[in-house]
Amino acid sequence: MTLQIGHIALENSLFVAPMAGVTDRPFRMLCRELGAGYAVSEMVTSRKELWGTLKTSRRANHDGEPGPISVQAAGFDKDMMFEAAQYNIDRGAQIIDINMGCPAKKVCNKWAGSALMRDEPLALEIAEAVVRAALPHGVPVTLKMRTGWSEDSRNAVALARRFEQAGVQMLTVHGRTREQGYKGRAEYDTIAAVKAAVGIPVVANGDNTSPEKARDVLALTGADAIMVGRAAQGRPWIFREIAHFLDTGTHRAPPLVAEVRRLLLDHLKEHYALYGDYSGVRTARKHIGWYVRALPGGEAFRTAMNAIEDCDAQWRAVAGFFDTLAGQMDRIPAAAEGALDQLDEQAADALA
Ligand SMILES: Cc1cc2nc3c(=O)[nH]c(=O)nc-3n(C[C@H](O)[C@H](O)[C@H](O)COP(=O)(O)O)c2cc1C
Repeated sequence: MTLQIGHIALENSLFVAPMAGVTDRPFRMLCRELGAGYAVSEMVTSRKELWGTLKTSRRANHDGEPGPISVQAAGFDKDMMFEAAQYNIDRGAQIIDINMGCPAKKVCNKWAGSALMRDEPLALEIAEAVVRAALPHGVPVTLKMRTGWSEDSRNAVALARRFEQAGVQMLTVHGRTREQGYKGRAEYDTIAAVKAAVGIPVVANGDNTSPEKARDVLALTGADAIMVGRAAQGRPWIFREIAHFLDTGTHRAPPLVAEVRRLLLDHLKEHYALYGDYSGVRTARKHIGWYVRALPGGEAFRTAMNAIEDCDAQWRAVAGFFDTLAGQMDRIPAAAEGALDQLDEQAADALA
């Protein structure tokens, strides 16, 4: 049976996680093309005065994106979140996701993101307000949270029950507390407890880095879907690898170097078109770095590429790198062991 969010049927149960500065429209579309059944946008602020900014309008760009269009809203005030839901629905959002998972300081100092889990009445008010805004339009509301604020306050289960009563139609749980940030390993017992406590679909998130891990997390939690964040950075084909493994119990061969060359070069064109020349060349660097990090010569290439200040030259350098690589190997090497440790460092860097 296909998974549904409210009345909306999804293609499969493999989701790409919302990651600010990463899961923009070009990256989401790439993940969808490569096997993700659903992609949530980067969070959009509920602060009205920022809606006209270039950053927010880029984040609100869904041109050509396959549905359902899901917009994540972040905020600390129920009226602002109500308005943000309405505003995004007017602009095409088919699902509104509430962010109660982000640990970044600039979000949490204002009592948004995962900080809301510490104030249960406020968290509930916000969920109710967003449901009130979305329901008349037939737009389902979903919510993403952590297991709790801290080790002593793992309140995801209690909150999940209340969110379900408030009309939230799917919950994603990242298996860490706010206090943990991205350190340590995600735990799945709390996600299993949330799944057991509610009737709406539950999505398991945190350290889903390989097909085997996805299988184990699904089994451990009983979750309805798996959400992959950092492991998809520079490796968007992880979704079809997981899908193949879950279907057949065997590993799909890693992609051909020629295919990755094409995917990345097409990704870059879309990226430059969204961000323009100045920002495009700069913001593309992290994506290129993720693609090449585990490849022979990848580190040296990344250093050299970071000095390029022109989209066209960057694009040609990437093409050249993969042409050289194609002379050395047919396929991209399978993901290295220890990938989890690399994930922790990257997240810390990205959110510092
Ligand atoms: C760079 C970065 C940006 C993120 N931005 C968001 C965000 O905007 N909204 C959100 O709910 N979670 C955000 N997250 C958290 C991820 O959605 C996810 O919960 C977390 O990375 C754990 O999953 P993973 O182990 O598969 O990466 C972000 C994570 C990273 C690394």
